[in-house]
Amino acid sequence: MAQLWGGRFTKETDQLVYNFNASILFDQKFYKQDIQGSIAHVCMLGKQGILTKEEMQAIVKCLHEIEQDVESGKLEITNEYEDIHSFVEANLIDRLGDTGKKLHTGRSRNDQVALDMRLYTRLEVLYTDELLEELLETILKIMEENTETIMPGFTHLQKAQPITLAHHMGAYFEMFKRDRSRLYDIFKRMNYCPLGSGALAGTTYPLDRDYTAKLMGFYGPTLNSMDGVSDRDYLIEFLSALSTIMMHLSRFSEEIIIWNSNEYKFVEIDDSYSTGSSIMPQKKNPDIAELVRGKTGRVYGALVSLLTTMKGIPLAYNKDMQEDKELSFDAIDTAKGCLALFQGMLATMKFNKEQMRKSANHGFTNATDAADYLVNHGVPFRDAHGIVGRIVLYCLDKKIAIDDMSLEELKAISPVFEADIYDAISMETCVNKRLTIGAPGKEAMEKVIALEKEYLKENHDKDWFELDEQILL
Ligand code: ARG
Repeated sequence: MAQLWGGRFTKETDQLVYNFNASILFDQKFYKQDIQGSIAHVCMLGKQGILTKEEMQAIVKCLHEIEQDVESGKLEITNEYEDIHSFVEANLIDRLGDTGKKLHTGRSRNDQVALDMRLYTRLEVLYTDELLEELLETILKIMEENTETIMPGFTHLQKAQPITLAHHMGAYFEMFKRDRSRLYDIFKRMNYCPLGSGALAGTTYPLDRDYTAKLMGFYGPTLNSMDGVSDRDYLIEFLSALSTIMMHLSRFSEEIIIWNSNEYKFVEIDDSYSTGSSIMPQKKNPDIAELVRGKTGRVYGALVSLLTTMKGIPLAYNKDMQEDKELSFDAIDTAKGCLALFQGMLATMKFNKEQMRKSANHGFTNATDAADYLVNHGVPFRDAHGIVGRIVLYCLDKKIAIDDMSLEELKAISPVFEADIYDAISMETCVNKRLTIGAPGKEAMEKVIALEKEYLKENHDKDWFELDEQILL
């Protein structure tokens, strides 16, 4: 048992208590952030004259070596240490002796872990944004290629009106675009440095918190030390954003599962993204989409768990907060994995355009347009609705589409119909007459696609930090 405390204790910690309390098994995930924070802290202590230049340099050098040794596998993080902070400090002392013992001057594990978690989350926010960008690029490519691919649009999972595949994909583009902007908002709000908050009440050392913050790319220090050590809002916000991303992925997965079914056959998932059955040789299952849908609950779980953990905690740090890690790490990795796999599945998926078109033709998706035709010829809308309703009934009985009716048959129900009705209710007309921005008409879609392209360009390589002055370590 390697602990950073023990001076005021007369008995050894019970082994079960030690195990229950320890966090090394999971907080080793941010060993890099822990070392990065320690380096920034020590540089600041050196600048302030709290440590000598030599001490500062020796510690920084040694911290870099520890990081390299962990990375190369030369130094193993084992559970003989209580947490990652103890591991790094113990190794530093092993290598540097008394100088190493000065690392923790003016710092508590409370502000240290608050910093580590924030640094880790900040990086993950950026990674998630990159994955969303790749997904958006894939979606936009499908949109560009399919402004004329007609398919039925649904409400209540019943065929409603014809749309295009580009239009359907465009809806998801909007969702994931909003997800990115949520991440950006979170980043802007969270990018303040809690280090220097001490255990809860700051410290008596003349720390330069602005300097430490700048060393790590933060906009500045957090403004209340009690809040600094006990704030996990940014993590809750991130888990909430991830939950929304998963909700979007899950809806998309659900559609792909339906579209991939034998009944619909709108899409075919690539062999490399499908799985088979151990007993039924004919099967090709959409397991990736199902798993994405399934894993959504797991990410929601992490959000609810952390909200619940935090709700009863009095200021400032309490050990409950150690529970912010495991499920968050799991949720972040899960969501990132889902984003990457989903993108790959989508990029390799084949769209069965003929089948989509056939489905749109045979679901009365042009019934609204038939009614609009009558309205344009002076029939009040309510009457037109009734007339087309009777036409639908007639077609259902004969198992045909409206377009299959002869002009005589149509005229028998309403004499207003003329030969131009067929053009008025063709799938192309139905789609392309819908030209208000946001509608599926080809011209409207092309305008939107141009805007989305512009958006992707503007946001590619966008500097989220926007720092006037940055002293990079
Ligand atoms: N492992 C702890 C955590 O994750 C680190 C902070 C410990 N602080 C303390 N006062 N025991 O929250």
